[in-house]
Amino acid sequence: MCKWMLSAGIGGLLLAGLLTAADKKEGDATKGKEVFEQCGVCHNTDTDEKKIGPSLKGLFKHDKLKNGKKVTDETVKAVVNAGGNGMPAYADLLSEAEKANVIAYLKTL
Ligand code: HEC
Repeated sequence: MCKWMLSAGIGGLLLAGLLTAADKKEGDATKGKEVFEQCGVCHNTDTDEKKIGPSLKGLFKHDKLKNGKKVTDETVKAVVNAGGNGMPAYADLLSEAEKANVIAYLKTL
C-alpha cells in the first residue's frame, strides 16, 4: 500500500514535470547554444567587436536594438524572423522552439 502510493506519487510528479516542460514557452539555453552555431559566423558573443553583424554580447542588457526597439523576446524574435541588412531571415529556417531556445541562449550572454 505504502509502496504503491509512493510510486503513484513519483509517477504523478514526473508526468506533471513533463507536461509543464512541454507547455512552457521559455526556451532552453543549452539547446539554443547549438542553434546559435549558425549565427556565430556573423555575431560575436564574447567580445563587443562587430563581425558581419553586431556583437550580441549582453544583448538583453542593452536598452535598445539597433532598430530602436526595446530589447524583448518579441522584438528580438522579429529581427531573427525578418532579417535584413545582411542578416538572413530565419522565419522559415528555424522552428518556433529553436527560436525560443536561441533567445534563451542570447539572454545568458
Ligand atoms: C550572414 C550573417 C548573419 C547571420 C548568419 C546571422 N546574423 Fe544576425 N545580424 C546580421 C547583421 C548584418 C545584422 C545587422 C542588421 C542591421 O543592421 O539591420 C544582424 C542583426 C542581428 C540582431 C539585432 C542586434 C541588435 O543589436 O539590434 C540580432 C538579435 C541577431 N542578428 C540575431 C541573430 C541570430 C539569433 C542568428 C542565428 C539564428 C543570426 N543573427 C544570424 C548578420 C547575421
